[in-house]
Amino acid sequence: MAKMAASIVEHGEDAFRKLFKFYKRRNPPPDFSDVIDFSKGLRSDTVVSAKLDTAAVSDVEARRAGLRPVRDWRAFGLQGFPGFIFISNPFLPGSQPFWLRQCLKTYPQKPNICNLDMHMSATDTTDIWDKSADALRAPPSGKREPKTLLERLRWVTLGYHYDWNTKTYSASHYTPFPADLHMLSCHIAAVCGFPGFNAEAGILNYYRSDSSLGIHVDESELDHTQPLLSFSFGQSAIFLLGGPQREDPPTAMCMHSGDVMVMSGPSRLLYHAVPRIIPAPQGNPCQLALETQSPGLHQGGTQNLAQEESTVVGPVSREDWRVCSRYIESSRVNVTIRQVLGPGQSFPETLPSHQRTDASRTETYHDGSPDGKSRGQKRKNSSDSSDTVET
Ligand code: OGA
Ligand code: MN
Repeated sequence: MAKMAASIVEHGEDAFRKLFKFYKRRNPPPDFSDVIDFSKGLRSDTVVSAKLDTAAVSDVEARRAGLRPVRDWRAFGLQGFPGFIFISNPFLPGSQPFWLRQCLKTYPQKPNICNLDMHMSATDTTDIWDKSADALRAPPSGKREPKTLLERLRWVTLGYHYDWNTKTYSASHYTPFPADLHMLSCHIAAVCGFPGFNAEAGILNYYRSDSSLGIHVDESELDHTQPLLSFSFGQSAIFLLGGPQREDPPTAMCMHSGDVMVMSGPSRLLYHAVPRIIPAPQGNPCQLALETQSPGLHQGGTQNLAQEESTVVGPVSREDWRVCSRYIESSRVNVTIRQVLGPGQSFPETLPSHQRTDASRTETYHDGSPDGKSRGQKRKNSSDSSDTVET
């Protein structure tokens, strides 16, 4: 019989690491029966429903961002994790393609920063989409083709650009945060009880089917009273949510396309990781493609939502959708949104590196950007594409 996750964590000093390895293992594949799947509702004893502020965002505001009316959202909490909120796909049918297209076509554009900038010139990393689209649209040739730039994308940073080496944000390393994503984030935060949230930094992670993201805490933001938001698109993933100590055994859950996760209050600084990408439950191509019949996808001349009202979520052309759908056949995109500064707060004077005292950061986040090419190796440098898994 396959070994259950629960039996793995009874003993041992680093329960998190053991479970990470358990879920990452390929051969034999792990038993997933302990993994919570919120899309199935209140099936587990530890899953409770979460209260949302349904009046915080009107139906019109929600629709403009591609979201269902808030009263229709299915939001969950987990016993023992106050401040953790899981919203099971609150997007309107047909609006995920817009957000996915933003993540693949728009947000990787300059002045935003991506992993490819670390070892390529600005001209080479301009128009990543345009340089990749034709190859991604073409039917597979059967031969081994060189990877497109889009397929080599591992992370993009927005707003206050996270510095993977110093693990800090700074005033001077800032470009305007995308207005559409700001609006989406503010709506989610407001509904979860944080009406004053300000989306100041974003990290997009691009996962292939063999990628993982190692065990870490997101603590570089200066204000931890504000939540961390996470949006997932494309293939599904196993997410591990642990405790405030690395030794605390984590809870495993599925993240599907469209799911939104909020880590706030006592859950804001918990250890977490993504040990494994798993196929989307609807198979291939995933749920997004099935949803594209209605408003998000351009319907040659049909009046659509974007034209009727001033929605932010506009149509995605068939051409663009072909690239997006091909990309997510084997990939997952995750967007995390952070408020970096509290009201009136500013960045401290930067100390010369030898005076920095925050040793924990250098151990925990381990560069964050996922890739699965050379597994078992810890990244030395955020620009390369070796694995991020801590061993
Ligand atoms: C992160 C993160 C989780 C995910 O980027 O800090 O934890 O689901 N991402 O990709
Ligand atoms: Mn994180």
